[in-house]
Amino acid sequence: MKLINIALDGPAAAGKSTIAKFVAAKLSMIYVDTGAMYRALTYKYLQQNKTEDFDQLINTSELALTYEEGKGQRVILDHKDVTDYLRENDVTNNVSYVASKEPVRTFAVKKQQELAAKKGIVMDGRDIGTVVLPDADLKVYMIASVEERAIRRQKDNELRGIESTVEQLEQEIAERDHYDMNREISPLKKADDAITLDTTGKDIDTVTNEILKMVDAI
Ligand code: DC
Repeated sequence: MKLINIALDGPAAAGKSTIAKFVAAKLSMIYVDTGAMYRALTYKYLQQNKTEDFDQLINTSELALTYEEGKGQRVILDHKDVTDYLRENDVTNNVSYVASKEPVRTFAVKKQQELAAKKGIVMDGRDIGTVVLPDADLKVYMIASVEERAIRRQKDNELRGIESTVEQLEQEIAERDHYDMNREISPLKKADDAITLDTTGKDIDTVTNEILKMVDAI
């Protein structure tokens, strides 16, 4: 198969990362979770007591993604593996804000484009099809109802030992979507040439197979 890049965008908890992992595994491609980069920078922002100097935050940050057999993507920030902290509530509740800042986006987008330069990447995020990889070979815009997304995130949190309720998650997800869709720089939106995939009520296999069919059709 020829080397391709796949861009997977959509609102929070639409199942992008789960599906991206499955698609990448099926096609022997590398899955890049771009949200984890914004989460890592948010983790550092919180460690720095929410200091508002985002140029300083970026200029002092060394961020690298590594890929370990069986462990998937790891996020190395300033030489420390911070992956296990990135799903904590505090990070989740501040990440949209940090990700709206220009120095943060410029820094992350450049790294993402470097990672994708050699192709063979399934990349998920909010602006992959529109800004990061406008020439991606396949662009999918994944959506699902807020109710279903909250239930999926709740199951995820239970597995990770993170406390939450479905009601609280519905509210947080809706707020994050609103923020991500309405920010000034690279807001979340469907690329004109993306295919919309509504995953409400569909299981992982079904959605994965739908994307594999799209790949076949390229
Ligand atoms: O996919 P996620 O929930 O881990 O993303 C966390 C946040 O990061 C999300 O609310 C918005 C931001 N984000 C972004 O602005 N651009 C991306 N390409 C990926 C994530």
